[in-house]
Amino acid sequence: MNQLPGYISQIKEYLIGQGFPEQVESVVILGSGLGDFSTLIEQPLMVPYHEIPHFSETSVQGHSGELFCGTVANRTIIAFSGRFHHYEGYEYSRTALPAYTAKAFNANKLIISNAAGAINTRFNVGDLMVIDDVIRLFHKVSSGPAVLPFPYFHTETAEKVRKIAAIIGLDIQRGTYLYAKGPNYESKAEIRAFRILGADVVGMSTVPELIEASRLQIPAAAISMVTNMAADISKSKLDHSEVKETAESRKEDFARLVTEIIRKL
Ligand code: HPA
Repeated sequence: MNQLPGYISQIKEYLIGQGFPEQVESVVILGSGLGDFSTLIEQPLMVPYHEIPHFSETSVQGHSGELFCGTVANRTIIAFSGRFHHYEGYEYSRTALPAYTAKAFNANKLIISNAAGAINTRFNVGDLMVIDDVIRLFHKVSSGPAVLPFPYFHTETAEKVRKIAAIIGLDIQRGTYLYAKGPNYESKAEIRAFRILGADVVGMSTVPELIEASRLQIPAAAISMVTNMAADISKSKLDHSEVKETAESRKEDFARLVTEIIRKL
Protein backbone atom coordinates (compact mmCIF):
# COMPACT_ATOMS: atom_id res chain seq x y z
CA MET A 1 0.00 0.00 0.00
CA ASN A 2 3.00 2.29 -0.40
CA GLN A 3 1.26 4.37 -3.07
CA LEU A 4 -1.25 5.41 -0.41
CA PRO A 5 -1.09 7.88 2.48
CA GLY A 6 0.09 6.09 5.64
CA TYR A 7 -3.18 6.58 7.56
CA ILE A 8 -5.13 4.41 5.07
CA SER A 9 -3.96 1.18 6.69
CA GLN A 10 -5.28 2.41 10.07
CA ILE A 11 -8.64 3.21 8.46
CA LYS A 12 -8.78 -0.23 6.87
CA GLU A 13 -7.86 -1.96 10.12
CA TYR A 14 -10.59 -0.06 11.99
CA LEU A 15 -13.22 -0.90 9.37
CA ILE A 16 -12.32 -4.57 9.35
CA GLY A 17 -12.74 -4.49 13.13
CA GLN A 18 -16.28 -3.16 12.48
CA GLY A 19 -17.06 -6.12 10.19
CA PHE A 20 -16.04 -4.76 6.76
CA PRO A 21 -14.60 -7.43 4.44
CA GLU A 22 -10.88 -7.44 3.45
CA GLN A 23 -11.81 -6.89 -0.16
CA VAL A 24 -14.75 -5.40 -2.10
CA GLU A 25 -15.63 -5.25 -5.77
CA SER A 26 -16.69 -1.59 -6.06
CA VAL A 27 -16.40 1.64 -4.13
CA VAL A 28 -19.25 4.08 -4.78
CA ILE A 29 -19.37 7.81 -3.91
CA LEU A 30 -22.87 9.20 -3.48
CA GLY A 31 -23.05 12.90 -4.33
CA SER A 32 -25.31 15.68 -3.03
CA GLY A 33 -28.84 14.44 -2.42
CA LEU A 34 -28.06 10.99 -3.85
CA GLY A 35 -27.46 9.36 -0.50
CA ASP A 36 -30.74 7.41 -0.69
CA PHE A 37 -28.97 4.83 -2.81
CA SER A 38 -27.62 3.51 0.48
CA THR A 39 -31.12 2.16 1.33
CA LEU A 40 -30.70 -0.33 -1.54
CA ILE A 41 -27.62 -1.92 -0.04
CA GLU A 42 -28.31 -5.45 1.18
CA GLN A 43 -26.89 -6.76 4.46
CA PRO A 44 -25.71 -3.22 5.17
CA LEU A 45 -23.19 -2.28 7.79
CA MET A 46 -22.90 1.44 8.51
CA VAL A 47 -20.24 3.39 10.35
CA PRO A 48 -20.63 7.18 10.82
CA TYR A 49 -17.63 9.09 9.51
CA HIS A 50 -17.00 10.72 12.86
CA GLU A 51 -16.26 7.33 14.43
CA ILE A 52 -13.65 6.41 11.81
CA PRO A 53 -10.07 7.46 12.52
CA HIS A 54 -8.87 10.17 10.09
CA PHE A 55 -12.38 10.83 8.77
CA SER A 56 -14.36 13.74 10.10
CA GLU A 57 -17.97 14.71 9.72
CA THR A 58 -18.84 16.43 6.47
CA SER A 59 -20.51 19.76 6.96
CA VAL A 60 -22.51 20.19 3.75
CA GLN A 61 -26.29 19.80 3.95
CA GLY A 62 -27.45 16.74 2.02
CA HIS A 63 -24.27 14.87 2.85
CA SER A 64 -24.85 12.52 5.71
CA GLY A 65 -21.32 11.38 6.42
CA GLU A 66 -21.86 7.62 6.63
CA LEU A 67 -19.74 4.79 5.27
CA PHE A 68 -21.59 1.62 4.23
CA CYS A 69 -20.57 -1.82 3.15
CA GLY A 70 -22.86 -4.56 1.89
CA THR A 71 -24.02 -5.96 -1.43
CA VAL A 72 -25.78 -4.54 -4.48
CA ALA A 73 -26.55 -6.82 -7.43
CA ASN A 74 -24.75 -9.57 -5.45
CA ARG A 75 -21.49 -7.61 -5.56
CA THR A 76 -19.76 -6.38 -2.43
CA ILE A 77 -19.43 -2.63 -2.23
CA ILE A 78 -18.32 0.18 0.03
CA ALA A 79 -20.41 3.35 -0.37
CA PHE A 80 -19.44 6.84 0.79
CA SER A 81 -22.59 8.75 1.63
CA GLY A 82 -21.17 12.24 1.91
CA ARG A 83 -17.84 13.41 0.59
CA PHE A 84 -14.97 15.69 1.51
CA HIS A 85 -14.82 18.93 -0.49
CA HIS A 86 -11.84 21.14 -0.93
CA TYR A 87 -14.03 24.18 -0.12
CA GLU A 88 -14.72 22.79 3.34
CA GLY A 89 -11.03 23.16 4.03
CA TYR A 90 -9.96 19.57 3.36
CA GLU A 91 -6.61 18.96 1.73
CA TYR A 92 -6.45 17.45 -1.71
CA SER A 93 -5.39 14.06 -0.30
CA ARG A 94 -8.45 13.98 1.97
CA THR A 95 -10.83 14.80 -0.87
CA ALA A 96 -9.45 11.75 -2.71
CA LEU A 97 -10.00 9.38 0.24
CA PRO A 98 -12.54 7.19 -1.62
CA ALA A 99 -9.96 6.43 -4.32
CA TYR A 100 -7.41 5.41 -1.66
CA THR A 101 -10.09 3.29 0.05
CA ALA A 102 -10.81 1.57 -3.27
CA LYS A 103 -7.13 0.69 -3.62
CA ALA A 104 -6.81 -0.45 0.01
CA PHE A 105 -9.79 -2.80 -0.37
CA ASN A 106 -8.60 -4.05 -3.79
CA ALA A 107 -11.75 -2.78 -5.50
CA ASN A 108 -11.78 -3.22 -9.25
CA LYS A 109 -13.77 -0.06 -9.85
CA LEU A 110 -14.67 3.32 -8.41
CA ILE A 111 -18.09 4.76 -9.25
CA ILE A 112 -18.39 8.48 -8.59
CA SER A 113 -21.55 10.56 -8.64
CA ASN A 114 -22.08 14.25 -8.20
CA ALA A 115 -24.58 17.04 -8.61
CA ALA A 116 -23.61 19.59 -11.24
CA GLY A 117 -24.87 22.71 -12.99
CA ALA A 118 -25.35 22.53 -16.78
CA ILE A 119 -23.29 24.92 -18.87
CA ASN A 120 -24.21 23.23 -22.14
CA THR A 121 -27.48 24.86 -23.18
CA ARG A 122 -28.68 21.63 -24.81
CA PHE A 123 -28.75 19.92 -21.42
CA ASN A 124 -31.78 19.93 -19.12
CA VAL A 125 -32.31 19.80 -15.39
CA GLY A 126 -32.51 16.12 -14.41
CA ASP A 127 -30.13 14.91 -17.16
CA LEU A 128 -27.46 12.38 -16.26
CA MET A 129 -24.03 12.79 -17.86
CA VAL A 130 -21.06 10.43 -17.91
CA ILE A 131 -17.84 12.42 -17.55
CA ASP A 132 -15.29 11.75 -20.27
CA ASP A 133 -12.89 14.60 -19.55
CA VAL A 134 -12.31 17.37 -17.03
CA ILE A 135 -11.09 20.97 -16.83
CA ARG A 136 -9.33 22.05 -13.65
CA LEU A 137 -9.16 25.74 -12.93
CA PHE A 138 -7.24 25.11 -9.78
CA HIS A 139 -5.43 22.08 -8.51
CA LYS A 140 -3.89 21.82 -5.11
CA VAL A 141 -1.70 18.90 -4.17
CA SER A 142 -0.34 18.93 -0.66
CA SER A 143 2.84 17.03 -1.46
CA GLY A 144 4.34 14.96 -4.23
CA PRO A 145 6.84 15.15 -7.00
CA ALA A 146 6.97 18.49 -8.76
CA VAL A 147 5.48 17.32 -12.03
CA LEU A 148 2.95 14.57 -12.53
CA PRO A 149 1.60 13.28 -15.81
CA PHE A 150 -2.05 14.07 -16.37
CA PRO A 151 -4.07 10.89 -15.83
CA TYR A 152 -5.21 8.96 -18.77
CA PHE A 153 -8.95 9.16 -19.22
CA HIS A 154 -10.59 5.88 -20.00
CA THR A 155 -12.81 6.88 -22.89
CA GLU A 156 -13.86 3.27 -23.18
CA THR A 157 -15.24 3.42 -19.63
CA ALA A 158 -17.50 6.35 -20.59
CA GLU A 159 -18.62 4.43 -23.68
CA LYS A 160 -19.39 1.32 -21.61
CA VAL A 161 -21.46 3.42 -19.20
CA ARG A 162 -23.43 4.82 -22.15
CA LYS A 163 -24.11 1.28 -23.36
CA ILE A 164 -25.15 0.13 -19.89
CA ALA A 165 -27.56 3.11 -19.69
CA ALA A 166 -29.00 2.26 -23.12
CA ILE A 167 -29.64 -1.35 -22.07
CA ILE A 168 -31.80 -0.15 -19.17
CA GLY A 169 -33.52 2.45 -21.38
CA LEU A 170 -31.90 5.56 -19.89
CA ASP A 171 -30.73 8.44 -22.06
CA ILE A 172 -27.48 9.86 -20.83
CA GLN A 173 -25.26 12.69 -21.94
CA ARG A 174 -21.50 12.48 -22.22
CA GLY A 175 -19.18 15.45 -21.68
CA THR A 176 -16.63 17.57 -19.86
CA TYR A 177 -16.85 18.45 -16.16
CA LEU A 178 -15.30 21.68 -14.97
CA TYR A 179 -13.97 21.58 -11.42
CA ALA A 180 -14.81 24.89 -9.74
CA LYS A 181 -13.45 25.86 -6.40
CA GLY A 182 -16.63 26.91 -4.59
CA PRO A 183 -18.09 27.31 -2.09
CA ASN A 184 -19.95 30.08 -3.93
CA TYR A 185 -21.80 29.14 -7.04
CA GLU A 186 -20.31 30.71 -10.14
CA SER A 187 -20.97 34.18 -11.54
CA LYS A 188 -22.74 34.58 -14.89
CA ALA A 189 -19.54 35.85 -16.50
CA GLU A 190 -17.63 32.81 -15.22
CA ILE A 191 -20.19 30.46 -16.75
CA ARG A 192 -19.96 32.28 -20.11
CA ALA A 193 -16.18 31.88 -19.94
CA PHE A 194 -16.43 28.19 -18.99
CA ARG A 195 -18.71 27.59 -21.97
CA ILE A 196 -16.06 29.05 -24.29
CA LEU A 197 -13.50 26.75 -22.63
CA GLY A 198 -15.58 23.75 -23.64
CA ALA A 199 -17.17 22.69 -20.34
CA ASP A 200 -20.57 20.96 -20.36
CA VAL A 201 -21.21 20.95 -16.61
CA VAL A 202 -19.68 22.55 -13.51
CA GLY A 203 -19.29 21.18 -10.00
CA MET A 204 -17.09 21.33 -6.93
CA SER A 205 -15.92 17.73 -6.51
CA THR A 206 -14.99 14.50 -8.31
CA VAL A 207 -11.76 15.56 -10.02
CA PRO A 208 -9.37 14.69 -7.14
CA GLU A 209 -10.99 11.24 -6.86
CA LEU A 210 -10.72 10.71 -10.64
CA ILE A 211 -7.09 11.77 -10.77
CA GLU A 212 -6.06 9.58 -7.84
CA ALA A 213 -8.02 6.59 -9.20
CA SER A 214 -6.18 7.01 -12.48
CA ARG A 215 -2.80 7.23 -10.73
CA LEU A 216 -3.65 4.05 -8.80
CA GLN A 217 -4.91 2.38 -12.00
CA ILE A 218 -8.42 1.81 -10.72
CA PRO A 219 -11.02 2.05 -13.51
CA ALA A 220 -13.37 4.89 -12.58
CA ALA A 221 -16.76 5.92 -13.92
CA ALA A 222 -18.13 9.32 -12.97
CA ILE A 223 -21.76 10.39 -13.42
CA SER A 224 -23.08 13.92 -13.00
CA MET A 225 -26.69 14.63 -12.31
CA VAL A 226 -27.70 18.03 -13.69
CA THR A 227 -29.52 19.52 -10.72
CA ASN A 228 -29.76 23.05 -12.13
CA MET A 229 -28.83 25.13 -15.14
CA ALA A 230 -25.63 27.06 -14.39
CA ALA A 231 -25.73 30.68 -13.24
CA ASP A 232 -26.15 32.48 -16.58
CA ILE A 233 -29.11 30.37 -17.75
CA SER A 234 -30.77 29.59 -14.45
CA LYS A 235 -33.86 31.73 -13.94
CA SER A 236 -33.73 31.59 -10.17
CA LYS A 237 -30.95 32.32 -7.72
CA LEU A 238 -29.07 29.07 -7.17
CA ASP A 239 -29.17 27.43 -3.82
CA HIS A 240 -28.47 24.02 -2.39
CA SER A 241 -32.17 23.16 -1.84
CA GLU A 242 -32.78 23.20 -5.64
CA VAL A 243 -29.85 20.80 -6.05
CA LYS A 244 -31.30 18.44 -3.45
CA GLU A 245 -34.85 18.58 -4.88
CA THR A 246 -33.73 17.62 -8.39
CA ALA A 247 -31.51 14.86 -7.10
CA GLU A 248 -34.51 13.54 -5.14
CA SER A 249 -36.71 13.54 -8.26
CA ARG A 250 -34.22 11.47 -10.30
CA LYS A 251 -33.03 9.17 -7.55
CA GLU A 252 -34.73 6.05 -8.96
CA ASP A 253 -33.09 6.33 -12.39
CA PHE A 254 -29.81 7.15 -10.76
CA ALA A 255 -30.08 4.05 -8.58
CA ARG A 256 -30.90 1.85 -11.58
CA LEU A 257 -27.89 3.16 -13.45
CA VAL A 258 -25.46 2.76 -10.54
CA THR A 259 -26.76 -0.75 -9.86
CA GLU A 260 -26.16 -1.75 -13.49
CA ILE A 261 -22.69 -0.19 -13.46
CA ILE A 262 -21.88 -2.20 -10.33
CA ARG A 263 -23.14 -5.34 -12.07
CA LYS A 264 -21.71 -4.88 -15.56
CA LEU A 265 -18.74 -2.52 -15.77
N1 HPA B 1 -22.19 24.97 -9.77
C1 HPA B 1 -21.29 24.32 -9.01
N2 HPA B 1 -21.56 23.20 -8.35
C2 HPA B 1 -22.80 22.70 -8.46
C3 HPA B 1 -23.80 23.34 -9.22
C4 HPA B 1 -23.47 24.54 -9.92
O1 HPA B 1 -24.30 25.18 -10.62
N3 HPA B 1 -24.93 22.58 -9.09
C5 HPA B 1 -24.61 21.53 -8.31
N4 HPA B 1 -23.32 21.59 -7.91
